[in-house]
Amino acid sequence: MEKLIVKGGTKLEGTIPVSGCKNAVLPIAVAAAILGDGGSVLHNVPNLTDVTTLRAVLEGLGATIKRKNSTLYIEPINHLEYEAPYELVRKMRASIYVLGPLVAKLGKAKVSFPGGCAIGPRPIDLHIRGLEHLGAEVMVEKGYIYAQAESLIGTEMNLIGQHGPSVGATANVMMAATLAQGTTVIRGAAREPHISDLAHFLNAMGADIEGIGTSVLTVHGVKQLRGTEHTVISDDIEAGTFMVASAITRGDVYVKGITPQQIPAISEKLVAAGVELDWDANGVRVTTPHELQPINVTTAPFPGFPTDMQAQIMGLLCLAAGTSVITENVHTDRFIHAAELNRMGANIVPDGSKAIINGVPKLSGAPVMASDLRAGAVLVAAGMAAAGETVVSRVYHIDRGYECIEKKLNNVGANITRVNA
Ligand code: UD1
Repeated sequence: MEKLIVKGGTKLEGTIPVSGCKNAVLPIAVAAAILGDGGSVLHNVPNLTDVTTLRAVLEGLGATIKRKNSTLYIEPINHLEYEAPYELVRKMRASIYVLGPLVAKLGKAKVSFPGGCAIGPRPIDLHIRGLEHLGAEVMVEKGYIYAQAESLIGTEMNLIGQHGPSVGATANVMMAATLAQGTTVIRGAAREPHISDLAHFLNAMGADIEGIGTSVLTVHGVKQLRGTEHTVISDDIEAGTFMVASAITRGDVYVKGITPQQIPAISEKLVAAGVELDWDANGVRVTTPHELQPINVTTAPFPGFPTDMQAQIMGLLCLAAGTSVITENVHTDRFIHAAELNRMGANIVPDGSKAIINGVPKLSGAPVMASDLRAGAVLVAAGMAAAGETVVSRVYHIDRGYECIEKKLNNVGANITRVNA
């Protein structure tokens, strides 16, 4: 099992480039492989294990996918299979993205029901509800979701769930609706930048989607989608993680390839905590000249503060001069990293869906364990700021969502070694 050994006390200085957005690539590759009748070329695709896992799912359905550096070449599937098996889906929940496109293209799908994960139960009722609105019959039996429809029919629906809009359900239903008969109106749609990137990609394939970037998406069904060429947007969460890495080490890092529009809430909260952000057309310089200030953060769907940055900002606030409160409203059980940060000398008290973070003057290195990919990222960031050595295990979580994390950070002065132990 690989581990990262992080020698702390380093100050990051230099430029870190941001890679392509994982959460955009996953549904876009699905749309390209299943919905398109011609080959697609995707640029700016990060080299992540989640992308490799999705590739296996799509190849299992019959797609031919080649990678050259950060470009994926996806050939249309001639003999599309309709089953995504447990062995592949269990490795990555986002495999559920094949459900809507398979029903739209083949009229049927059999997809393993994704399980829960370290950040809590992850229901898929909204995905199912959306497809049912489009006229699909959906049944769950023996761990599989069976969906079928002679043809999907456009309709109006509200996809808002108990925790607000769902990124996954919006993507799944939007993809299915592109090939439905008539017009589908999705109210309560997720507005994350990666949903917009998927919608732009689908339109480039010949779909007709209006309201991109808003909570009401109108999808006029078309008969056929073609292949296209697309450059995936940059990863907002990777950018936010590097901004935190700069701030927590009191560094001076230019995070290259991100815009303020992609990360409004992350920027606002970092500034409130005393981090200075100097934006230009290509990215942002991140410095922390003064003491970090405590702040309150509440996670929410875009344009709110992303749950996928909650762990990282928690790590930063461990070193603030006072008490901060984080309220997790999206994945309410997502605080496993708090216990690991406490092992490094932090003072965090989880309390239901809140965490009270009492700032401490310093952190110290310790052996810690990544419980999910963002939890892993904060342990690496905290390790860089801590005195002594931090050994992060379960690195495979980090590799799901960060492309060569230690290489990028070592390039700007970190001291991180990957070992097989
Ligand atoms: C996506 C992201 C994930 C991120 C999450 C929230 C990908 C591959 N993953 O996950 O990194 O943490 O958005 O920004 O893009 N919900 C339901 N019923 C459903 C679906 C979701 O109740 O059918 C709930 C979830 O439990 C959660 C909330 O809605 O509380 C938001 O989840 P959702 O946006 O669907 O997350 P994912 O698409 O799974």
